[in-house]
Formats: sequence, structure tokens, C-alpha cells
Amino acid sequence: MAVPSRAPRLAPDGSPYPEREAPTFERDVRRMFGQLARRYELFNHVASMGNDLVWRPCSLWELDRFRPAPVARALDLGCGTGEFARAVAGHFPSARVLGLDFTRAMVVRARERTRPRDPTGRVGFGTATALRIPCADATFDLVTNAFLARNLRDLPGAFREMRRVLKPGGVAVTLEITEPAPAAFGRLFHAYFDRVVPLWGRAVANEGASRYLPESLRRFPPRDEVVRLLGSSGFPRVEARTFSMGIVTAFLGEAGPPPTRG
Ligand SMILES: C[S@@+](CC[C@H](N)C(=O)[O-])C[C@H]1O[C@@H](n2cnc3c(N)ncnc32)[C@H](O)[C@@H]1O
Repeated sequence: MAVPSRAPRLAPDGSPYPEREAPTFERDVRRMFGQLARRYELFNHVASMGNDLVWRPCSLWELDRFRPAPVARALDLGCGTGEFARAVAGHFPSARVLGLDFTRAMVVRARERTRPRDPTGRVGFGTATALRIPCADATFDLVTNAFLARNLRDLPGAFREMRRVLKPGGVAVTLEITEPAPAAFGRLFHAYFDRVVPLWGRAVANEGASRYLPESLRRFPPRDEVVRLLGSSGFPRVEARTFSMGIVTAFLGEAGPPPTRG
């Protein structure tokens, strides 16, 4: 039986407004980030009041505590303009880092932003989905991703892909916006995130992106559920470390032995 096609959801200004249940979800997310690519870093710094510049390095310091080990090869998924990939390269000065993103305009921007700061060419970028990583099993010591997870149609599937490309004992770091821990602060956070951030979104980007952002957080599973999902996706040791009263969480998972194929 033919599946009825559905028109992609658009915001009143005609910009893409991705809808998770729609068959066009991933294409719409790609179009949305494609339109944002050149203003994405500015939007992030303004909306997070500069805190995003701290959260990525903090998650790497947590990684040092979680599993102090050398990193020779690292992969950053949903790399956007390459900020986390560059942070990883700075944190592990001899590592080679690959950043992948399924939005071509983001990858182009990542290359432009990274070239002048990476004279030895340790950081490379490519276009690919996090749900089917074009790399062999057990390639990397570290797989990172920042603010990608909320956008994934199949979070457990992405975790299994991360596990597949990690060497046993390697670590996955997922950094994501989460619900703040103290309830009183949660109300303040939501007043800002649901009302003020969309205004920034409208000013810097468009109506669709500004509506999608708070919606994507509402749809993201609670912290404990993410920990459980990682645990059941091939990461026997998982820890969640919160920053800024829980607005952001770094989920750290150590890859277990490869699954036995029957
Ligand atoms: C909010 S941005 C985060 C960018 C960057 N990681 C950072 O720290 O700023 C999310 C990025 O994930 C990408 N993305 C969303 N879904 C993806 C998927 N299924 N596979 C690969 N990239 C994806 C988008 O294109 C976008 O560049």
C-alpha cells in the first residue's frame, strides 16, 4: 500500500519548521540548518549568553575524569560549524579529528572556520548522517556530539552507530540541552528558553528555527532515560554530568565489547 505523502510543515514566514513525525523530518532539519549555517555560531553565543563556549570544554574535562586515556582518533557527529571538533583537537594535541554533519552548508562553514586555525590539517570534515556513519567498526577512541541528539529521529540507533565505530574502551560524549534540575530554576529557564530565545531565533534566523528549538527540547527524553538508552546500546558504564544547574548535560559512555553477531 502506498504511504500517503505529507507536505513538510512550514512556519508562517515560509521557513522550514521540522516535525518529528513527518516523513520529511530529516530533510526539513537539513534545510533549516542549511539556512542557519552562516549565522549559527552567533545565534548560539547570543542565545546561550556565551555559555556554549564553556560547555564544550567542560565536557572534555569531564571526559578526562571519566576515562583518562590518550586519544589518537576522534569523530564529532553533527559537527555544525566545527566548534566541538576544534575543541577536541585543542584538548588532544596529537589527535586526528573528523567532523561529520548531514547539512552540506554546515560542513562548508566548518572548513572555512577551521582552515586558518589548523595549519597541520589534523581536523577534517565530511557530509554524513549520524544514523549511518561511513566509517569502519572500531575506528575511533572518542566520539563526541554537541546539541545533535535532540535532532535525531532514532537516538538509540545513533548510540549503536557510535558504539560500532568506537574501539572497545573508547568513549562517547553526548552534550545536550536538558531540563534543569531545581524546579524553581526550571521555571526561570523555560521563561527564557521558550519566550526569549525564540525572539533571538527570529532576529538571527527565521520563524521555523525559533519554534523548533523549544519544541525539540520538550521532545528530548529525560536525563535518566538517555542514560538507560546508552546503557542498552553497548555502553556498560555511563555517567551524566550536569552544567549550569542542569541546563546542559554531558552523557559519557564507555564502549563495551563488540556485540556478537549471530
Ligand atoms: C544544533 S547544531 C550543533 C552543531 C555543533 N555540534 C555545535 O556544537 O554547535 C546540530 C547539527 O546537527 C546536524 N544534524 C542534525 N541531524 C543530523 C543527523 N541525523 N546526522 C548528522 N548531522 C545532523 C545539523 O545539520 C546541525 O549542524
